[in-house]
Amino acid sequence: MSRPKKKVYIKTFGCQMNVADSEHMAQVLAQEYALTDRPEEADLYLINTCAIRKKSEEKVRSLLGSLKALKQKRPQMLLGVGGCVAQQEGGRLLAAVPHLDLVFGTHGIYRLPELVRRAFSKRQVDVALMEGFPPALPRRWRPGSAQALVTIMQGCNNFCSFCVVPYVRGREYSRPPAEIVAEVQEFLAAGGKEVTLLGQNVNSYGRGLSEPLAFPQLLCKLAELQGLERLRFATSHPKDLSDELIGLFGELTPLCEHLHLPLQAGSDRTLARMHRGYTAERYLERLAAARAAIDDLAVTTDIIVGFPGETDDDFARTLEVVDAARYDAAYTFIFSPRPGTEAAAMVDEFIAPEIARERMQRLVDVVERHALAAHEARAGRVEEVLVEGPSKKDAEQEAARQALQELPDA
Ligand code: SAH
Ligand code: SF4
Ligand code: F3S
Repeated sequence: MSRPKKKVYIKTFGCQMNVADSEHMAQVLAQEYALTDRPEEADLYLINTCAIRKKSEEKVRSLLGSLKALKQKRPQMLLGVGGCVAQQEGGRLLAAVPHLDLVFGTHGIYRLPELVRRAFSKRQVDVALMEGFPPALPRRWRPGSAQALVTIMQGCNNFCSFCVVPYVRGREYSRPPAEIVAEVQEFLAAGGKEVTLLGQNVNSYGRGLSEPLAFPQLLCKLAELQGLERLRFATSHPKDLSDELIGLFGELTPLCEHLHLPLQAGSDRTLARMHRGYTAERYLERLAAARAAIDDLAVTTDIIVGFPGETDDDFARTLEVVDAARYDAAYTFIFSPRPGTEAAAMVDEFIAPEIARERMQRLVDVVERHALAAHEARAGRVEEVLVEGPSKKDAEQEAARQALQELPDA
């Protein structure tokens, strides 16, 4: 009889790309480790981290601090940190956290089994960034999972002045279409229904491929696959949103009528200083084109308040654009200086926290007013929905409650 597998627990912070990466981690480790949702029984505890804002990084540091007790109770448990904070901090993280065994970067996932093996005898750091996409992985979708996140690109070449992603994820690289199609086919064969394609800027998909294929053509290829009921994607950069892509929503049945179109700011001066590559007018023109072509389009966005040098007038422009755009939902963030980015050096122009907070409140009020109106407009309608599973919040609370009850005494 084969030996029972050891157990790995993975805590994931950050964006959907990290969620997909955590699934990959579980997969590359599957020969030796079975996934558990109970941290207290883990032989290997991995944290997949996010560095997008200071707060994201602080969450990781605070979890690491609190894991000291678990590591003392279970000294045989290996503790590893991966993802964007690991990529950013590398060996510094290992030096700062004595009970940490392993640090691996965003491209290190595929070397994970080897790194874990080595970490038993010696603490490990691997934050090398590779050229191109890591070797294809055979994906084994869990039967019964209706949704899949499929990474079609990695990295980013845009270097928006506030953003750490190009530094922690490396250069933009598009995955060959044949691999993507094969992965989606396998998921559909296992009973899957909804696919979300992931990339930092999916509209630039295809650059550098040996056989060029643009994002709209990739969507067409996938939409014709038997059994695909819903097709989504994120994120589409407003500067590259083409009429061709907009036109597809009317043609491809599985394409969900939703665009996530990050605005970031409404003032042209701020947008230029962010290196976003569009003006407010151009943004609103693209949005109007999308709304005119796509019936009942849901639109969501990301907005940053308090970017260095943002004046009252600049901020007033953001409110105007948000008012005009009538978003269904918006993710709003106070600017957070990230190490190594251009905006982090604009120290002389940093906005006082109380001003940023006050602007945030005003922004949230406008966002909520429009979101409520958008939701009310749907009241009484019969809609098709996909049941994703039990609420994550409930599941997390339940896991935390059990962990507290079952933590063995030393
Ligand atoms: N690729 C996506 C963004 C990914 S990061 C795009 O181009 O839109 C997700 C969001 O985090 C960003 O849209 C931005 O609103 C926010 N963000 C990124 N860096 C930030 C920073 N330094 N401070 C505050 N918010 C930030
Ligand atoms: Fe960051 Fe800009 Fe790239 Fe988005 S497009 S990941 S905001 S650098
Ligand atoms: Fe995603 Fe956070 Fe990294 S948003 S790309 S996990 S910095």
